[in-house]
Amino acid sequence: MKSPKTIATINFKGGVGKTTVTWCLGDVISAFSDSKVLLFDLDAQMSLTQAIALNEDGYSLEARFQKWYEASIERKKTIFDALDKFARPAQHFDFPVGFDFIYQLTDTLHFVPSVEDLYWMELEVFDRDAVKDFIRRLLGKITNSPKLPSYDYVLFDCPPSFTLLSYSVLSCCDLILIPVNPDYFASKGTNLILNSLKMRIEPFPLPQIGVFMNKTKTWGGAPTKESSFYMREVSRVCDNASKAENIRAEFLDSWIPERVGVKRAITSGGVPKELVDPFKKLWNEIVGYLA
Ligand SMILES: Nc1ncnc2c1ncn2[C@@H]1O[C@H](COP(=O)(O)OP(=O)(O)O)[C@@H](O)[C@H]1O
Ligand SMILES: [Mg+2]
Repeated sequence: MKSPKTIATINFKGGVGKTTVTWCLGDVISAFSDSKVLLFDLDAQMSLTQAIALNEDGYSLEARFQKWYEASIERKKTIFDALDKFARPAQHFDFPVGFDFIYQLTDTLHFVPSVEDLYWMELEVFDRDAVKDFIRRLLGKITNSPKLPSYDYVLFDCPPSFTLLSYSVLSCCDLILIPVNPDYFASKGTNLILNSLKMRIEPFPLPQIGVFMNKTKTWGGAPTKESSFYMREVSRVCDNASKAENIRAEFLDSWIPERVGVKRAITSGGVPKELVDPFKKLWNEIVGYLA
């Protein structure tokens, strides 16, 4: 069985678009290619999970998902239960994976939701090194399961902090995707995150890192002067980090414009028309970078 390519979206800053970008990429890849995509919500704040549970009016619950979600909690088939099983010392990782653990949004886009327990778990003391291999082992189970499709891509929406789960994802994923916004914090924040990734993940090899601009301000279809300025700044930070440190951080040419319509991308189930091409472009660049 072939292993999927794994991509983790992170940034320590909240609100830069991690959840939105992860969702839109998953949606565009699964809708416009033959690929099967699995999305993980690893954020205990549960933005993606809640957005999927909500209908477009932002109020009533999507009944099919809600019913499935409650059953998965009841049967102890959530990501928290998986981690709980994994972290018990001296026990076999006994956690069969199937469609009671993975929710089918469409034929080609599948989803593992978050649960509130993840938040409390971070406060209990799990040994960091005991958790490190969790995602790798879980992905192994998913890849080898005869009940599940063979996924081409697995995307992780990570929390805005270094949690045990993000540590586990970052030490095994193929690409770390970092969205930044065109503001004063873009280059400072990129510098900070590149340095801390290096410190946190070593001695394991660092995955490739792709930084790109989300919420780019545009004028006549091109980035404004101001947005272009921040792009150059971040690009310089990536170049310097790649030269000075032993990491491969690239500032991607593709950028996602700021468009209010993106707010409905998750709840009404689709990336707005005007953003499909930018996300396809970003996607193609990522595939090239991973190859
Ligand atoms: N390209 C974009 N254009 C306009 N608004 C955006 C864009 N990307 C994200 N947003 C908005 O920014 C806010 C934060 O996005 P979110 O994905 O929740 O960030 P994060 O997961 O990093 O905290 C949301 O209201 C979202 O709709
Ligand atoms: Mg988020």
